[in-house]
Amino acid sequence: MNNRTIVSLPGDGIGRVVLEETIRVLNAAGFKANYIEGDIGWEFWKGEGNPLPDRTIKLLEEHKIGLFGAITSKPKDDAAEELNPDLKDKGFIYSSPIVGLRQHFNLDICIRPCKSYKGNPLNFIRMGKDGVEEPSVDVVIFRQNTEGLYGGVEWSDPPDIVYDGLMSHPKFVSNFGNVPREELSISTRIFTHKATERILRAAFGYAKKYGYKSVTVCEKPNVIRETSGMMFKMAKNIQKNDFPDIELWNTNIDAQMMWLTKNPENYGVIVAGNMFGDIVSDGFAGLIGGLGFASSAQYNPESGIGVFEPTHGSAPKYADYPTSIVNPIAMVESACMMLDFIDGQNISREIRKAVADVVKEGKVQTYDMAKMSGREDVVEKGAASTTQMTNAIIEKL
Ligand code: NAI
Ligand code: MG
Repeated sequence: MNNRTIVSLPGDGIGRVVLEETIRVLNAAGFKANYIEGDIGWEFWKGEGNPLPDRTIKLLEEHKIGLFGAITSKPKDDAAEELNPDLKDKGFIYSSPIVGLRQHFNLDICIRPCKSYKGNPLNFIRMGKDGVEEPSVDVVIFRQNTEGLYGGVEWSDPPDIVYDGLMSHPKFVSNFGNVPREELSISTRIFTHKATERILRAAFGYAKKYGYKSVTVCEKPNVIRETSGMMFKMAKNIQKNDFPDIELWNTNIDAQMMWLTKNPENYGVIVAGNMFGDIVSDGFAGLIGGLGFASSAQYNPESGIGVFEPTHGSAPKYADYPTSIVNPIAMVESACMMLDFIDGQNISREIRKAVADVVKEGKVQTYDMAKMSGREDVVEKGAASTTQMTNAIIEKL
């Protein structure tokens, strides 16, 4: 493989630590790359009034691949308070830079794999017929990342044109027609054919490439007929015409949340709209170890721009510990997804095997795996620090 340029986006808090540690793993595994650091996060909000400066957008436009740690985000008013004095009251309004990245580059495909490592003390267990069972989970969630209920088309006390439009719908008239307008709050759930088709095709394509036998559409088509209904109908067509060897399953999000603890081993690829994808992926992540293990990729199949990040945030309460205690595996896994995306499967396979070996051996465990509460003295008490965990992974390579 030629030297790649990767835009590293450390962000804030523990994002900075886990990204640095992950780059050590990538280097040790022989991934040849140059890293250019992109500015993103709280420092740039405070100092420039923009947590996602244009120069960072340009870097990603040019190099296409971003490896992102995590950022700190705060509500609008708190954010305004923390601006540097010379920027206060100049009309700067905070918005999340990671959401900004998704929107700017239309990173509409989000993948969140949830695969349990053997020997992880955080794995889900359940009582079976013959005693305790530890189902082996290997689920990959495809979440539509840009539209649906998180599309931002919302009103409270809607303007005339919206209200009149709603009043043209018989269900609105019968269910809400006599609610005073100022007492109405409305959030829309918009699905487009194009984006729905893209997420479905990405899910089926992945199932085929990696040998999963089923794709489950996890929505609620019996009740949310237009959007969930459209997604399921399109899935049926795609499956019939292009992926006849892959089974298409249909579950409702509510039932799926129950089944994920009853029979998580039955599922393979799951595909859903934005909010249900968010929910079901957090649910499955809980079965495989939670935030220290949950990784994600988000990309745009047309432009080839992709940003790879752990699901966790900046964990400010641990950010200033003299020795970092957080688990780097979620970030390392996210980097493996980056490698898969840019055809570095040989290297990602090795890294995943090294992580699996460390987890299985059980000698080196960060505080979460050791089931400690995250205090500063966990390393003295036998938990591995972030760096010790990274070292253990590197030793296995
Ligand atoms: P968080 O994910 O930062 O931390 C929640 C808790 O999870 C931590 O206190 C810790 O107990 C545990 N945790 C997180 N990462 C871990 C790791 N690698 N190893 C072991 N334990 C880990 O979420 P929180 O506290 O809700 O948010 C903190 C900040 O992060 C907020 O400003 C929030 O807006 C931001 N955030 C950013 C995200 C992103 O950058 N994509 C995603 C989620 C939150
Ligand atoms: Mg979430």
